[in-house]
Amino acid sequence: MSSSHKELTTLLLLLVAIAGHPARCAEVTRIIGGQFASPGQFPHQVSLQLRGRHHCGGSLISDTMIVTAAHCTIGQSPSQMKAVVGTTDLAAGNGQTLDIAQLIIHPQYNPQTQDFDMSLIRLSSPVKLGGAVQTIQLADADANYAADTLATISGFGAINQNLQLPNRLKFAQVQLWSRDFCNAQNIPGLTDRMVCAGHPSGQVSSCQGDSGGPLTVDGKLFGVVSWGFGCGAKGRPAMYTYVGALRSWIKQMANV
Ligand code: ARG
Repeated sequence: MSSSHKELTTLLLLLVAIAGHPARCAEVTRIIGGQFASPGQFPHQVSLQLRGRHHCGGSLISDTMIVTAAHCTIGQSPSQMKAVVGTTDLAAGNGQTLDIAQLIIHPQYNPQTQDFDMSLIRLSSPVKLGGAVQTIQLADADANYAADTLATISGFGAINQNLQLPNRLKFAQVQLWSRDFCNAQNIPGLTDRMVCAGHPSGQVSSCQGDSGGPLTVDGKLFGVVSWGFGCGAKGRPAMYTYVGALRSWIKQMANV
């Protein structure tokens, strides 16, 4: 493709994304903005790997259970997946690689709408906790939140337009949108199982490969990276599965 062609294609993709088609895991990209994490900074962060390659994020909630997005595990078999914990650099080989026993997808997950986009992953044997590997506490059921509450997202996802995976963990701060804006009137397809977060500039966002990973508020798991309109656009949030809405299901299935 000629470079002007490429530019045109990129522009078109951008326009499509901005025009309001939910980009359920495609195209424009850059965790966009933010910074690289230091070792041990996100000890609950998981890299979910599919056939040996980074596929999605996740969060460790007990020594045998991970929370991720349903769209990360749907249609997959446990034998093709592994969970890597305890590293901020996937190329360094200093993490623990864990076998997966079971993928538990939320029974109401809807792949068309991304409603109930949550999955649990049961590890084959308990992970060794300590140091750079720790569990994260879950937010309370229906945890309330004020508009513009600061939240932290982290992930090994894409950082640029070429869908380049950095292998290194990034993180960024975003703000939660209140239900006054984060609702189905303003954002078609939005449900009570979703919360919105973004950055006023549109230059800071989760992106492809961050899915399933954590959005934390006050050190607790509040959301799970789910979907967005491209990756960061002014006035556009990204959508996160609302842990508070699915808290009792997690309790029931994982006993956490
Ligand atoms: N669904 C995509 C994934 O699997 C991206 C999720 C976040 N997207 C976004 N535009 N904020 O990684």
